[in-house]
Amino acid sequence: MQTDVRPAEMARINTPELAKAFIEEQIRDIRAQVKDGKVLLALSGGVDSSVVAALLIKAIGKQLTCVHVNHGLLRKGEPEQVVKVFREELGANLIYVDAVDRFLDKLAGVSDPETKRKIIGGEFIEVFAEEARKLENIRFLAQGTIYPDILESVAGIKAHHNVGGMPEEFDFELVEPVKLLYKDEVRCVGKALGLPDNMVYRQPFPGPGLGVRCPGAITRDRLEAVRESDAILREEFDNAGLSGKVWQYFTVVPDFKSTGIRDGKRTFSWLCIIRAINTVDVVEVTPEHLPAWLIDRLVKRITTEVPSISRVLVDYTPKPPATVEYE
Ligand code: XMP
Repeated sequence: MQTDVRPAEMARINTPELAKAFIEEQIRDIRAQVKDGKVLLALSGGVDSSVVAALLIKAIGKQLTCVHVNHGLLRKGEPEQVVKVFREELGANLIYVDAVDRFLDKLAGVSDPETKRKIIGGEFIEVFAEEARKLENIRFLAQGTIYPDILESVAGIKAHHNVGGMPEEFDFELVEPVKLLYKDEVRCVGKALGLPDNMVYRQPFPGPGLGVRCPGAITRDRLEAVRESDAILREEFDNAGLSGKVWQYFTVVPDFKSTGIRDGKRTFSWLCIIRAINTVDVVEVTPEHLPAWLIDRLVKRITTEVPSISRVLVDYTPKPPATVEYE
């Protein structure tokens, strides 16, 4: 069993060889811990839970059950990719839960940012626990805890259990194979496990997802406008070779309408804000200054392909005074 302290002599995993050695070691350790037991994992599609899933599939195959909860606040194409990669390509036992209506109904009319976060987090535990109750003889819960989570937990900054708050009736033993790794090492292991690059090098994405990029009370039409504009932004950043270079980039569609013209008629529609930032530790953040041609292209594509948006703005505010997200 691993301790929660990274040994001083542990080499930084930064080559495919070191990643392969780590994978072999973890396969042995996971098999020794789990034996013929069953393991449950909440698979969000983020890099940490994806790497844990891929490791466990290699180590124990169908003894692992992954649950992917689609709360309706994921980016375009993400739930489909989780199903494709894990169920179809890696042969995982994957339960896909379409909880979109359930989350959006609970969030309807709720505009306070912290209440929105609480509803999303609480509902997630609820849905995951319901799935866990349907399964029998699950003894273990796997989690994508990484070393910074443990360090922050020790420092009292945040609780380290990703699925912390599971109801007390569950008495799972934890399986946390990447808990001594830093993020760059998790990516290196993910690459060696053959996960797709857009999963391994995925930019940070908040737990409450697009919910915080749809400030105020979430409506389905505005959420769709965020999702579509975000997909266009990601595609254009890929094409411009910026996707691996800029730390985080996304669109926000606030609850605000402005006057526009479409087909010679007056419209009253949403505006879209582009935010692209660089940082080392997210405590201080600088804006990425985009080339004028790219801004022009984004304005054209977003206003053409997302008819509910008639105006595009670029946010060049550093942190502080602004935070990265809008709420
Ligand atoms: P802020 O807006 O606080 O964001 O400057 C700093 C980083 O944290 C991410 N973020 C979150 N991540 N749950 C998360 O898992 C959240 O509620 C949340 N809020 C912000 C944000 O995307 C940025 O990378």
